[in-house]
Parts: sequence; structure tokens; C-alpha cells
Amino acid sequence: MNALTRSAAAYWNSSIGKKLVVAVTGLAMVLFLAGHLTGNLLIYAGKEAFDEYAEFLHTAGHGALIWVARVGLLTVLVLHVWATILLTRENKAARKQEYAYKATIQASKSSRIMIWSGLTVLAFIVFHILHFTVRTNSHLAEIAKESPYEMVIAGFSGGFLQALVVLFYVIAMSLLCSHISHGVASMFQTLGFRSKKAAGLIQLISLGYAAVIWVGFVSIPVAILLGFVRSN
Ligand code: HEM
Repeated sequence: MNALTRSAAAYWNSSIGKKLVVAVTGLAMVLFLAGHLTGNLLIYAGKEAFDEYAEFLHTAGHGALIWVARVGLLTVLVLHVWATILLTRENKAARKQEYAYKATIQASKSSRIMIWSGLTVLAFIVFHILHFTVRTNSHLAEIAKESPYEMVIAGFSGGFLQALVVLFYVIAMSLLCSHISHGVASMFQTLGFRSKKAAGLIQLISLGYAAVIWVGFVSIPVAILLGFVRSN
């Protein structure tokens, strides 16, 4: 083992090292969400704009860019979940005895449900990739060959099943944003930016960011289901 591998292993074994991994990978995913939302909002600009954007994503760098992004995102997601599991286990082991009463009076609801919101987001990501990237529904897969715009419209409109899909998206987005609102604030703390003075501002940034992400993502399936954005 060389010196670099040794110090990386020592860092990973320390609790602050794992916290830093959770913070940096969380930041990468938060930035991905901003980019994904910006691209998705092109649905409001119409079929041509959205399909052009989808075409760009798939052809940039001769098709290599999307694979670099996929591998990067998957690595970041695995590290985030793995470090979180290890930290939770360490915290439990350190707290040999459960508190006589739960010391969660001060903790916000978002922070208490981090594990559940995180697991729902994981389930959502699997569903979402099967829905729009792998396209296990052969009808959607056929439409996607012609137009990604039409695929998204068909994915969120047309019947009872699509209404259920929209409901699941809304629930998942709500838990995602609860997760983000606490996650962004924790990230600032881990990265050492959380002084007493800055606490209010950080709270505002975390809640504001989560709110923008929620409104943006939820608006798309809901607008399609209600017929505000239609098939061309
Ligand atoms: C209503 C909101 C959303 C819409 C309309 C939407 C739309 C899409 C579409 C159309 C694709 C397929 C891209 C392609 O392969 O051409 C996609 C992929 C993806 N989306 Fe979303 N998305 C939404 C929300 C989210 C959220 C909240 C997340 C993360 C928590 C997310 C994560 C991903 C990931 C990881 C992929 C796979 C990228 C790939 O490998 O191609 N999406 N999304």
C-alpha cells in the first residue's frame, strides 16, 4: 500500500472523512438536479426545443458525454449511500445505550426522516430510469424513437395508470426536497461554513433551493396530466 492509498483509507475510516464524502457527493447530486431541471423545463418551450436538447445529450462528444455523466453519477450515488450506512452504524455503536427519551425535540422533521426520504428517492430513481431511460413500457419505447418530448407527454397523461405515476412522482419529489433541505444545510456544516451568524442564511438557502427544485420538477408531470402541455 503506498502512502496515498494509506492516507485515503485512514480518511475513509475516520468519521469526518465519511461525512466529507457524504457532503461532496451530495453537492454533486444537488448540482446534477439543477442541470436536469433546467433541461427538463424546456418541455414548456415545445417539442422542437426539448427534442433538440435530448438529441444533444445523446450525441455530445460522439455519445461519450452521457456515459461519462452516467458513470460519474452512479459512483457518486453509491459513495453517498455507502458512507451514510457506515456513519449510521458507527453512530448506533457509539450510542451503546438508547437515550431514555429521544432527543429529537430540536431536530426538524426533515432531519428525522432522512433515511426514509433517502430510500424513497432511491426507489424513485430506479423507477424513473426504467420509465424514461430503459423504457420497459414498449409503447413508450416506440414513441421515444420518434420524439423524447412525446414520450414524456405519454408517460404522464392518458389514463388512470399515468395519474398514479404522476402521484408517485409528486410524493417522491416532496420527499426528495425534504431530503435536500436538510442535506444542503448539513453539507454547509460539514464543510465548515456554519457559524452562528450564517445559520439563518444557510437555512434560507437550503429551504429556497429545495422549494425551487420541488416547484420545477412537480410542475412538469402535473401540467402534462392537466393538459397544459400537450402532444403535438
Ligand atoms: C418530473 C420530473 C422529471 C422529469 C420530467 C425527468 C425526465 C427525464 C427524462 C426524459 C430522462 C431520460 C433522458 C434520456 O435518456 O434521454 C431522465 C433521466 C434521468 N433522470 Fe429524470 N426527470 C425528472 C426528475 C428527476 C429527478 C428528481 C431525478 C433525481 C432524483 C432524476 C434523475 C434522472 C436520472 C439519474 C436519469 C438517467 C440519466 C441517464 O442515464 O440517461 N430525474 N429524466
